[in-house]
Amino acid sequence: MNPKTTILTGDRPTGPLHLGHYVGSLRQRVALQHDYQQFVLVADLQGLTDNGSNPQKIRDNIPEVLADYLAAGIDPDLTTLCLQSALPALAELTMLYMNIVTVARVERNPTVKNEIAQKGFARSLPAGFLVYPISQAADITAFKAEVVPVGDDQLPMIEQTNEIVHKMNSLLPAPVLRHCKAMLSDTSRLPGVDGNAKMSKSLGNTLHLSASEETIHRAVSAMYTDPHHLKVSDPGQIEGNVVFTWLDAFHADKAKVAAMKDHYQQGGLGDRICKNELEACLQELIAPMRERRATYIQDKSQLMEILKKGSERAHEVTQATLKEVKRGLGVPVF
Ligand code: TRP
Repeated sequence: MNPKTTILTGDRPTGPLHLGHYVGSLRQRVALQHDYQQFVLVADLQGLTDNGSNPQKIRDNIPEVLADYLAAGIDPDLTTLCLQSALPALAELTMLYMNIVTVARVERNPTVKNEIAQKGFARSLPAGFLVYPISQAADITAFKAEVVPVGDDQLPMIEQTNEIVHKMNSLLPAPVLRHCKAMLSDTSRLPGVDGNAKMSKSLGNTLHLSASEETIHRAVSAMYTDPHHLKVSDPGQIEGNVVFTWLDAFHADKAKVAAMKDHYQQGGLGDRICKNELEACLQELIAPMRERRATYIQDKSQLMEILKKGSERAHEVTQATLKEVKRGLGVPVF
């Protein structure tokens, strides 16, 4: 592993993070911070692309997301935590990139397409929302990140970023930007407790890193299993069974989970027992995070101070890339 390789990821501060974020990305970041140069971006400007009239929501959630990071084990001495809006180079690179990406191309981005349909924007689609993949390309390239640990819904962003890298480099006398690749976790998408393929705040099917014991218990009890598994003795189905998908994502003893799956498929293993097993490991995972988070969130100014320090460092890195691009394009740099 090359210790100099740079990693960038980020999150929109639109609410506290949940277990989908944890298995999709947070858990990896905690492991990777030891071996890589890692930056984590609180993407407040991207958060505003569909919250333009509600900036307070974004503002309020910045410390919430930071508390989640620290609670999950991201160490600000190993990972540079920074704020998108504090890094003007990102906005400037976005302006430059917007000229080399067509509207047709952004409209074809499947993630953006889905989100636009899901949010029912129609003609009220904010211009900033449509181009957020371009701004995300600016985020990634400004840090010269080569590895981006994300969930699979972000793959179209990586693809689009690499197109921009290719195009922009071809306009410069010598390549400045680096190509990047996604790093997917074993569980790149955790289904919601209701069986919906995506866990999301708007669907109300999430579990937060700060979920109480009672909330965890209730969520697991109500969790979607195999609707045809009526009697304990009936053979049950694993595919689409959220309890087993979650056991795969969270349980440390893979052999035990494999044995449970066999038993369940043959018949004779009840949902209750599977759920108890899952609840136990979730309670064990979340309890220490919930406690740490409660401590961190009490001192929001301390959290913002961490972000300010990291942003100062990130400012230097991103400003250097912007200057290189500008010089290459023949834009005067004073
Ligand atoms: N789009 C990402 C999300 O919604 C957040 C994000 C912004 C991001 N900038 C990034 C992720 C750069 C990776 C790299 O979760």
